[in-house]
Amino acid sequence: MKVLVTGGTGYIGSHTAVALIEAGHETILLDDLSNSREEVRDFIGQITGVTPQLYVGDVLDAGLLDKVFTEHTFDAVIHFAAKKSVPESAAEPLKYYENNVSGTISLCQAMKRHGCKKMVFSSSATVYGITSEEPIAEDAPLSPYNVYGNTKYVMEMMLQDLCASDGDWSVTLLRYFNPIGAHDSGLIGEVPTGVPGNLMPYITQVAAGIRPHLNVTGTDYNTPDGTGVRDYIHVVDLAKGHVKALDKATPGCAIYNLGTGAGFSVMQIIKGFEAATGIGVPYVECPRRAGDLASYFADPSKAKRELGWEAERSIEDMCRTSWAFAEKYYRK
Ligand code: WQD
Repeated sequence: MKVLVTGGTGYIGSHTAVALIEAGHETILLDDLSNSREEVRDFIGQITGVTPQLYVGDVLDAGLLDKVFTEHTFDAVIHFAAKKSVPESAAEPLKYYENNVSGTISLCQAMKRHGCKKMVFSSSATVYGITSEEPIAEDAPLSPYNVYGNTKYVMEMMLQDLCASDGDWSVTLLRYFNPIGAHDSGLIGEVPTGVPGNLMPYITQVAAGIRPHLNVTGTDYNTPDGTGVRDYIHVVDLAKGHVKALDKATPGCAIYNLGTGAGFSVMQIIKGFEAATGIGVPYVECPRRAGDLASYFADPSKAKRELGWEAERSIEDMCRTSWAFAEKYYRK
């Protein structure tokens, strides 16, 4: 198939572009480079032997989208382009609704104008919000509790309404849990802007000597060791899930959790990183982060049953590849 990947030079977008090319799909990238680097396109080329075409611009730019869809006849779009910082979303809700929701509307309108009605959509487990159910299945109640999660929820509702209005549309909503890790080449990985908000990019900056220690946010949760438990999934497994979703897409709207089904605590990640890399991670115990939950992990059985997909890579591999990328990136 010929696939447009929006946000294609980003962390998950670039890994998915590699997986698409390796699966034989012709892949075109669109990215505004607001949270990624143009050189990622060349790294994709080094990894796969195919350097994808990159359009630099914003999904809100209808003229650019018409140019892209005129120059290529796409079978499908995988839509990653969105802002994803929880604290930033609270500070700038209008920017998040415009970029994420209006951007998706603009993209769907361009797809409709050009007769492309198949999308794999990058959603997030954040739409489940505060839920007592563990592990979390796709039919768990949705109650997002931050602006970023609200935008993902609104986009999901909008895409479901679009499918209900026109049976030709095929939309697959993929709800990610906690993606970490990097490609085995060490060429592509997660590059946080500013102070990392997420656990693994913060740990790799401590290991690289950029930060003095990790702040462990919350040690009094009702979990085995008191620290937060999450479902960490290797970004390469996540990328392969997108290819499976594309291959299995049917008319209508389908929803899948992409997680491992296992939960690991902050302390287990610290110890796992130290064991995988031989590098100590000094840390300081701190109060809970506002809005954080104690424990969060997926029931991934629907994706296994219907997509024939399951996560395969271990926490050790996630830690090792996270560091292999960061060591190259920060010490170049
Ligand atoms: C994981 C655990 C923290 C940083 C977020 C978004 C979610 C999704 C994934 C986009 C928690 C602890 C963290 C640190 C720490 N993003 N922690 N010190 O919050 O589960 O999910 O990223 O889709 O939308 O909400 O991930 O990595 O921020 O936190 O102790 O410096 O690590 O308290 O228990 P989270 P996270």
